[in-house]
Amino acid sequence: MRKLKAAIFISGRGSNLESLIKSTNKKNSLVDICLVISNNPSAKGLIIANKKKVPAIYVVQKKNFEKKITKYLKDIDVICLAGFMQVLAADFVNRWDSRLINIHPSYLPKFKGLNAQEQAIKAKSTFSGCTVHYVSSKIDSGEIILQKKVKILKKDNTESLSKKILIEEHKIYPRALQMVARRLLKQK
Ligand code: GRF
Repeated sequence: MRKLKAAIFISGRGSNLESLIKSTNKKNSLVDICLVISNNPSAKGLIIANKKKVPAIYVVQKKNFEKKITKYLKDIDVICLAGFMQVLAADFVNRWDSRLINIHPSYLPKFKGLNAQEQAIKAKSTFSGCTVHYVSSKIDSGEIILQKKVKILKKDNTESLSKKILIEEHKIYPRALQMVARRLLKQK
């Protein structure tokens, strides 16, 4: 069976990376994770990639970042942003249209941008959640692939909410990636 080749972009902890690797290592996965790119040399996710034997590189340079990584993406079919804290250039986003996805820790369109969990607590919202979406040139605004609501209780704070959301992130990102893979494989 032909599998799609994925690259995962990270900047830090890498827990979503880990859940994506675990899920794609399963027998029926339509995706192989072939590469991890970090913009931060001390990202813990790089250690995870190493342990799981997934080739990983870091590229710190912000200017021309997209140009610099192009050569590594030649065989890649789909890119997953997983805690990647750098805005990608519009022409790169356009080039990867429908093949570039992201996970955001809120129930979009609520709480876009940084510190989404804190935004939800401050807004005294009764729920937030997480969303996997296609990346478009507007931040956290591309078409939604999959999302999951998480209840916010009175006793919740940013930390407890982040933990609850993260548990759901680790479930929906792998599922969303398979959905995207199914769609892309049909087009091939
Ligand atoms: C996650 O909460 C994700 O939704 C957001 O950044 C965080 C990354 O966490 N975009 P990790 O590096 O995957 O553990």
